[in-house]
Amino acid sequence: MSFINCYEDASRADAYASLEFANTYYLAYRDLPSIISEHVAGTRALDFGCGTGRSSRFLQELGFHVIGVDVSEDMLRIARSIDLSGDYRLVPGDNLSEFGVGAFDLVLSAFTFDNIPAAAKVRIFSDLQKLLTPKGVIVNLVSSPEIYIHDWASFTTKDFPENPAARSGDVVRIIVTDHEDRRPVEDILCTDETYRLVYREARLETIAMFKPLAKGDEAYKWVNETRIAPWVIYVLKRAA
Ligand SMILES: C[S@@+](CC[C@H](N)C(=O)[O-])C[C@H]1O[C@@H](n2cnc3c(N)ncnc32)[C@H](O)[C@@H]1O
Repeated sequence: MSFINCYEDASRADAYASLEFANTYYLAYRDLPSIISEHVAGTRALDFGCGTGRSSRFLQELGFHVIGVDVSEDMLRIARSIDLSGDYRLVPGDNLSEFGVGAFDLVLSAFTFDNIPAAAKVRIFSDLQKLLTPKGVIVNLVSSPEIYIHDWASFTTKDFPENPAARSGDVVRIIVTDHEDRRPVEDILCTDETYRLVYREARLETIAMFKPLAKGDEAYKWVNETRIAPWVIYVLKRAA
């Protein structure tokens, strides 16, 4: 199956750059500081799929020296223009060989694997785990399967009645309502069961998993976020 990464598009990149940490995205990032401080020792981080740099700047704020990589030059161009002293690199074909084995204490991938077909996930995770220090971890933040069958403060899926029938590995569609670009984003559905198989094949062990829910007292107009988790956060280490 050929799958096109919808972020290789200049106007989508412009729209994406306007997103920060509001609404449903707030819940994606809310718990990362405590998760990272509990599981990560050291300050060298790779932001895999850094996009327009939101996740890289977030890690910098936490004190990390960050290298952001992405396959979309359109996204990277904006990341570099916002953060002039940042280190943002294009990695065509996910060739990560420029980085040494054991180079990073943390690899963060925030939403990146939503856009990577099932067949490529194992290879990329295998390559990423080799970049970890012996105590290093991968934090993989992804969309939950439920995000594609409900509405949210930041998203709608009403136009896609076919989503509930999708199986792991199928394309699903969702519209971001927090920015002007209302073209559907195409993602690859990936269930928890599939992620667990992928991790095992990539020689990774899951050490924690989080499904952040809203409390209800935040300054956002939640739709389903207080009862259904839109995101899943996995903390992974190299298998012994
Ligand atoms: C939804 S954006 C998230 C950007 C950023 N992590 C954030 O939180 O704002 C997903 C990014 O993953 C990138 N991406 C998709 N497939 C990729 C791949 N195979 N390797 C690296 N980056 C990829 C896309 O180009 C896009 O910039």
